[in-house]
Amino acid sequence: MNFDEVVETRRSVHDYTDESLDDKTLEEIFERVSLSPSGYNLQPWEFLVLRDDDNKQTLREVAYDQEHVTDAAAAVVVLGNKDPAAHAEAVFDDWLEKGYVPNEDVRDALLGNVEEMAEMPEDERRVWTTRSTALGAMTLMLAAWDEGVATCPMEGFDAGALADEFDVPNGYEPVMLVTMGYPAEGAADIENERKARRPVDEFVHYEEFEPVGETHL
Ligand SMILES: Cc1cc2nc3c(=O)[nH]c(=O)nc-3n(C[C@H](O)[C@H](O)[C@H](O)COP(=O)(O)O)c2cc1C
Repeated sequence: MNFDEVVETRRSVHDYTDESLDDKTLEEIFERVSLSPSGYNLQPWEFLVLRDDDNKQTLREVAYDQEHVTDAAAAVVVLGNKDPAAHAEAVFDDWLEKGYVPNEDVRDALLGNVEEMAEMPEDERRVWTTRSTALGAMTLMLAAWDEGVATCPMEGFDAGALADEFDVPNGYEPVMLVTMGYPAEGAADIENERKARRPVDEFVHYEEFEPVGETHL
């Protein structure tokens, strides 16, 4: 598919065939996920891929019993590392080696910045990791659809219960779930009318921010 086709025909899909998702297809999709941008290229994302029926059932139970979690061939828990410094040394060594920074002093200064970021309050680090990790999840959905694999992003889950069930350590934010599988007949049909989108001229603002509608906050 070309880019337009991928973006225009992607849908959040709930109905999947019984066909499984093989390792090779998943690897190809995740290779493309790895190319997503992230703050300082720190790549805080982690993806827990569940294909085992019992694991998907456990996930469904912490996802308010949403059926597509078990109907999908795979359900992916998208996690964000809340420690900005987790991969910083490797990232900045790479920058030095490839000339993205001119010398070791600049590399060390960048490392220092990120180590300071690691001292931010928890709520700021949750926002920090969610920014980059959500971009990885978007790449996952587009790369999957390019392979004919449909997806559905999900925020409907109990993050605490999920962390308990899957032994996710405190330092990781459960950002979202993504179900993945080959779509059942008609489930991803482009003839299905797309859900309404807000008009572009309502949400794009040039030079001055004048939102339409109230936030009630
Ligand atoms: C952050 C986020 C959370 C979502 N949570 C759920 C969910 O818990 N369950 C679900 O069935 N769909 C969920 N969706 C899918 C949306 O309902 C869907 O993207 C939206 O209706 C637009 O439809 P489309 O993706 O087919 O264009 C979520 C989407 C996003 C981006």
